[in-house]
Formats: sequence, structure tokens, C-alpha cells
Amino acid sequence: PRTINLAVVAGDGIGTEVVEQGLLALDAALAGSGVGVATTEFDLGARRWHATGETLTDTDLDAIRTHDAILLGAIGDPTVPSGVLERGLLLKLRFALDHYVNLRPSTLFPGVPTPLGNPGEIDFVVVREGTEGPYVGNGGAIRVGTPHEIANEVSINTAFGVERVVRDAFARAAVRPRKKLTLVHKHNVLVHAGHLWRRTVEAVNAEFPDVTVDYLHVDAATIFLVTNPARFDVIVTDNLFGDILTDLAAAITGGIGLAASANINPDRTSPSMFEPVHGSAPDIAGQGKADPTATVLSVALLLDHLGLAAQARTVEAAVAADIAERSGRVRSTAEVGKDLAARIAG
Ligand code: NAD
Ligand code: IPM
Ligand code: MN
Repeated sequence: PRTINLAVVAGDGIGTEVVEQGLLALDAALAGSGVGVATTEFDLGARRWHATGETLTDTDLDAIRTHDAILLGAIGDPTVPSGVLERGLLLKLRFALDHYVNLRPSTLFPGVPTPLGNPGEIDFVVVREGTEGPYVGNGGAIRVGTPHEIANEVSINTAFGVERVVRDAFARAAVRPRKKLTLVHKHNVLVHAGHLWRRTVEAVNAEFPDVTVDYLHVDAATIFLVTNPARFDVIVTDNLFGDILTDLAAAITGGIGLAASANINPDRTSPSMFEPVHGSAPDIAGQGKADPTATVLSVALLLDHLGLAAQARTVEAAVAADIAERSGRVRSTAEVGKDLAARIAG
């Protein structure tokens, strides 16, 4: 009998609320499958930082590495200076575990309210680079707080890093019915990084001749995500553009409470990490108002990654059925979680 060793980082704010429901969904999905789950909870986030000054120690990281996968809630709290936990914990995990594919699927489930008048069929996936770009922290500031302050955030784009994520995106596009890949960048202004991305996509396309390639500047991409999102199949883009586009993608497909993500290490040299796209939502934390659906859909991505595709489809079908019957009903986080777990269990 197989056991999934799962590291759980519930984190801050609504992170703890949604992860609890995600774990119920995981248990329901695995019931009767012969696969068990053993969870290890990691006390990381604002509470730990206030108590010890630690964000993520080498000991924490070594312990996390021994697991098959990580389920994460959200990181960040108004009582901690902005960036301390986001960089010192969340991004440190993504970088240290080499999560170079940040996979963020967007599907408009039937019956979901969307701000778009005529959404069409929305079903695309953003392959966001996860270990480079402006996120690496290769910047600095001088004369801080003076009128002569200079603040730099440098975007790092390596041929190695761009090529591996572009190849992953092509491989994903090649097995989808429409086989279409859109590179989103801004090579009319960011000429150094932009042309590296453009050339890399051209070169890797030779290995995937069936995939049709398309390019949009990021500003134009935001137009089409609103006016014609059905045109997108797979989008590949850098770390920062991908962050911004995927909140917009969430907004057009039913809101941030439904958007799931996977931080994948495709080489499987370390555990991949599954988390909702949203943050700790301090404005609603502790009120039982958070929608746990994004976390439950992230559990489906986790199951897929661990080779449990049938269970992943069961979770997605349960979410789709639940969503179809939502119309206007207000339920608490725990109620939604309970309803989803019941549907998953059948
Ligand atoms: P946020 O995603 O936390 O919240 C944005 C808005 O969406 C808020 O109005 C919030 O109430 C709402 N929202 C988010 N998740 C929801 C859910 N499940 N159900 C219903 N409503 C939901 O983004 P923010 O306000 O920009 O950031 C808050 C904190 O979270 C910051 O510290 C930020 O750094 C952090 N953050 C962390 C992650 C992460 O852990 N992956 C992601 C984004 C932001
Ligand atoms: C996300 C978040 C993070 C990001 C922050 C909190 C570091 O916005 O997961 O989308 O920018 O990647
Ligand atoms: Mn984000």
C-alpha cells in the first residue's frame, strides 16, 4: 500500500482556513483507493516569525524536502513588513526546490458568474516561469529615503532557465487539442530579456512542429484576456507577467477563490508545491468567508502530479457540480469544504 508523505504549510490569514478544507478533499479523494496520506504540518509564517524571527530555516527546508509534495495555503500578514515572509518563505521555497514551472490553469466552469458579457469557452493554462525574472532579488537601493534615492530591481533571465520552461510549455501545448502556444512578453521595450524569450520559443518550436506559436506584448495580452479569452490555449511568460496575468485570468473565470496553481519541479529532484493563486486575504481572514475551492482544485493538481489522475478528475468533477448549483447561495468556508468532500466521496 502506498502512502503520500505530504508537507503542509498552511501559513497566514485564510491560508489555514482553506488548507483544512483542502485536506478534507484529499482524504475524500483517496478513500478506498488504497493510497493513504501522512501529513507533516510546518509552523511557518507570521506566528513563527514573531515568536522566533525565523522565516524558513535550513532545518525546515531539509525536512520539507523529504516529502512527496507540499500543500500550501497562503503567506503574508499585515503585522510583518511586506516582503519578509513573501521572499523569505514563499519565494525561498519556490527557488530552493527549483519550482521552475508555475502552472496556473484557467477554465470557465459552466454556471460560473463572470464579469465578461460574452466569455466564450475559456480553457487555457499559464506556464509562468518560477525561479527567475525580477523575483530573484538581484537589485538594491542607495540613498534610501533621500530625494536622491535610486532603487533597482533587476530581472534575471538565463538561457538555461528560459529554455527549460519554454520546453515544458511546448510539451503541454503539444498534448492539448488546439496545440497553441502564446508567448507573452514585452520585447519592444525589454529588448534583452524579450529577445532571449522570443529566440528561445523559435528554437524550441523546431522540436514541436505541430504546435502553433503566437506572440503578444503583455499589455495587449490583457486586452485579449478580457475581449477574447477563448483565443488562448497555453501561455508561456516570465515570473512577473505571469503573476499579474493569472490574477486577471482568475477574475474572468469566476474569481480568485477558484484559481488553482502548481509550483512544479518537472525533474522531480524535489517536492512540488500546490497552492491557491490567492493570498492570505487579511480583509476576510478569521471570518469563515474564504472560498476553499481554489485550494481543493490545487489538490486535484497535486493528485495529477502524483499519478492519481482518476482521483484528480473526481475532485474536478465535484467542484464543477458544486459550482453549477451555487447561484447566489452564501456558505461558509467549512460548509463549502464539507459539501465538496461529500461530493468527492460520492
Ligand atoms: P489576496 O489574494 O490575499 O486578496 C485579494 C482580494 O481577494 C481580497 O479582497 C481577498 O479578500 C480576496 N480573496 C482572496 N482569496 C479569496 C478566497 N479564497 N475567497 C474569497 N475571497 C478571496 O491578495 P492581496 O490582498 O494582494 O495580498 C494579501 C497578502 O497575501 C499579502 O501579504 C500578499 O503578499 C500575500 N499573498 C500571498 C500569496 C501566496 O501565498 N501565494 C499570493 C498573493 C498574495
Ligand atoms: C502569487 C503571489 C506571490 C507571487 C507573492 C506573494 C510572492 O502573488 O503566488 O501569485 O508574486 O508569486
Ligand atoms: Mn500573485
